Amino acid sequence: MLTNRYSVNEKGHLTLGGADTVELASRFGTPLYVFDEDDIRGNCRSFREAFEKNYSLPCKVYYASKAFSCKEMYRLVDSEGLCADVVSGGELYTALAAGFPAEKIGFHGNNKTPDELAFALDSGVGRIIVDNIYELYTLNDLAGEKGKKPSVLFRIKPGIDCHTHEYIQTGQIDCKFGFALENGEAMEAVKIASAMDNISLVGIHCHIGSQIFETQPFIDAADIMVKLATDIRDTFGITLKEINFGGGYGIKYTEKDIPTEKDTDIKILCENVKLACERYDFPLPSLSIEPGRSILDASTLTLYKIGVVKTIKDIRTYVSVDGGMADNPRYALYGAEYEAVVANKADKPRDFTATIAGKCCESGDLIQEHTKIQTPQVGDTLAVLATGAYNYSMASNYNRLPRPAAVMVSGGNPRVIIERETYEDIIKKDI
Ligand code: LLP
Repeated sequence: MLTNRYSVNEKGHLTLGGADTVELASRFGTPLYVFDEDDIRGNCRSFREAFEKNYSLPCKVYYASKAFSCKEMYRLVDSEGLCADVVSGGELYTALAAGFPAEKIGFHGNNKTPDELAFALDSGVGRIIVDNIYELYTLNDLAGEKGKKPSVLFRIKPGIDCHTHEYIQTGQIDCKFGFALENGEAMEAVKIASAMDNISLVGIHCHIGSQIFETQPFIDAADIMVKLATDIRDTFGITLKEINFGGGYGIKYTEKDIPTEKDTDIKILCENVKLACERYDFPLPSLSIEPGRSILDASTLTLYKIGVVKTIKDIRTYVSVDGGMADNPRYALYGAEYEAVVANKADKPRDFTATIAGKCCESGDLIQEHTKIQTPQVGDTLAVLATGAYNYSMASNYNRLPRPAAVMVSGGNPRVIIERETYEDIIKKDI
């Protein structure tokens, strides 16, 4: 199976992190998101320790909380010594409500509102990653009014094309995020910031895309970003102390995916930053990254109940589950690939070709097409694997479906970290 955290027990049931998924489904209901806490903690440590091993300066790992944001997740990453990347007032609010230290938060966004910037300044976030020139002026004015001087990084588009879905590529010039390098925008912004009274420019940031398996784009980013820091020093006399390389490390959604070890990714990044610093004669900066998907990784799943099995002769069999695009829009959006297992028949061969459909009133409400699962029957529990990232965080109430509950499993023991929404929750804001 995808990771060694999955197994099959003596009942023939799929287990994750030692917990019987069929029991989880009957105890907590479906749909249900399940997270392997021990694995997530291990992922946090792998990144953190890789920097300790491979770099001489202190580095920071920001958990990109857009991947899965809830109070318990902020508590967990805080307890593992990580920082947090937030991208909206809502994520910032959730982090602070969980007691996450503001100074360990990096605030992102390509269209932060003045209210969000004021919120970030008032709460004392550690870093604001400025995306554009309008934001820079607004932030400078707001900071002046409040008597603050935020530490700022500039988000740079390094002009790197990586091989991932077009919707999640972010390093190329034709992209809504950040300052471009090619047309001088980035250097111009540094010039403007250097003359501002209320901005402390401490570093530069890039994020080239998501679900990336190649290492070359990260190697290129190391060179381009150190070169930019050198140009900034040589032109403006400002020596930046920090470079943030964003997230993007790919995970194993299917057997076809072969991700690099986290340790190796970080080693490559550190080595190439060191090489670039030698090449350009630039002092080693402190490094940070922002992994989201790879913190949650593949040892996460969603459990559903199979409600209808509809075979259309000579065409296909639709296996309908009690969730769908409202809890996992990734197939509808990106054609994302997933593996699925009939959790109560996990010891049987996956020799049945199914199209897994949701219950939304929409033909495109599919989780996967023509995929192999065990022969399904009404009432079976279906597990869709590796759904930890960008599922709950992208979930909606389409068709007024309540959002599912989420449980974390540690040492085989589950605990609820997000309660299932009720119909009452759904009408709460209706007048
Ligand atoms: N940092 C920045 C500035 C980002 O924009 C992102 C992701 C990350 C870090 C984390 O990237 P990760 O390590 O998770 O690849 N909804 C899409 C993914 C969108 C990614 C957006 N930005 C999906 O479901 O695949």
